[in-house]
Amino acid sequence: MAANTRRSCSEVLKVHTNLGTLAPSRFDCRLVLYNDLLIEDLLDKGQYGSVYKGIWQGVSIAIKELDDCTDPKEFSDEVWLMSQLDHQNIVKFVGACNAPKLCILMEFIEGGSLYRVLHVEKRQLDPDSVTSLLTDIAKGLSYLHAQNVIHRDLKSKNVLLTKEPLRAKLCDFGVSKLQAKDSTQTDDVGTLLWMAPEVVRSRCHSEGSDVYSYGAVIYEVLTNSLPFSDTKELNHYNIMYLMCMEAKRLTLPECVLPKTPLQIKYIIDRCLDHSVDMRPPASDLVELLGGVDWEETCSLGSDTLSDDMDAFDDEGV
Ligand SMILES: Nc1ncnc2c1ncn2[C@@H]1O[C@H](COP(=O)(O)OP(=O)(O)O)[C@@H](O)[C@H]1O
Ligand SMILES: [Mg+2]
Repeated sequence: MAANTRRSCSEVLKVHTNLGTLAPSRFDCRLVLYNDLLIEDLLDKGQYGSVYKGIWQGVSIAIKELDDCTDPKEFSDEVWLMSQLDHQNIVKFVGACNAPKLCILMEFIEGGSLYRVLHVEKRQLDPDSVTSLLTDIAKGLSYLHAQNVIHRDLKSKNVLLTKEPLRAKLCDFGVSKLQAKDSTQTDDVGTLLWMAPEVVRSRCHSEGSDVYSYGAVIYEVLTNSLPFSDTKELNHYNIMYLMCMEAKRLTLPECVLPKTPLQIKYIIDRCLDHSVDMRPPASDLVELLGGVDWEETCSLGSDTLSDDMDAFDDEGV
């Protein structure tokens, strides 16, 4: 982090005053005193700080405490963006602290991340849970896009799960941005395994690149593996080379095809298309998932898969 991004507390307060001018009434009432927080267990240590479970005004919350070197402008942007979002599939913003630590306070989601469920606990989700989680994520993404917000870092670590009922909510708007009217966001962010090829190549973020990342999350849910985990010598350089120079597509391993509904296969293929124009808008994903039938799966050895998918196209699904 550049030295000029390190600022004193008083400078940080000024940043917050600026933030207050963007959304004065909403932000003022959500500024929380750090001393009023009861910080409990560490939930996760991320790239930009640590997330704790805590209590504020008798209610369980999650406290994202950012590292001291965090750029206050980025913090303000994340706080402001979160404070503007209101949807059942987006983690709810509770408030923020600006001293002595920069913290973002959110509703506490007790089930942890989808990443944890799939890759640490290695839980296999039942068909109904798969459909409902994928629908929740699509609804959250569709809501963001309707607000002109591109998530830019959609992956299983940024999907949180409630327990009963099992529901998914998107979190982590640290790198999300409002879509500029006539330009494409091009910062170097996101996580390679979930990144659309155009983002890897030229850092072009768009709603379509979020939809690609959504396809990579479907891959994770169906396989309990990380994207490209079947690639030999999985490293950033190889992934970049395969995607950009050899146009390698992320495809489902054959072993999961017999239990994969045809409609989900169709959705994942469309989302992971290297051509951004071929990917469906997030709002269509919700509708497409409504047609998932777990009895109607892809069968191994069948050469009708592409025919089946053509049939979907012909029906205008
Ligand atoms: N509201 C929350 N409730 C429960 N756990 C959370 C919450 N927010 C974040 N976490 C946990 O902390 C992790 C990191 O949070 P995130 O906002 O993605 O931070 P980072 O910017 O460091 O990636 C998540 O993957 C999840 O395990
Ligand atoms: Mg994250």
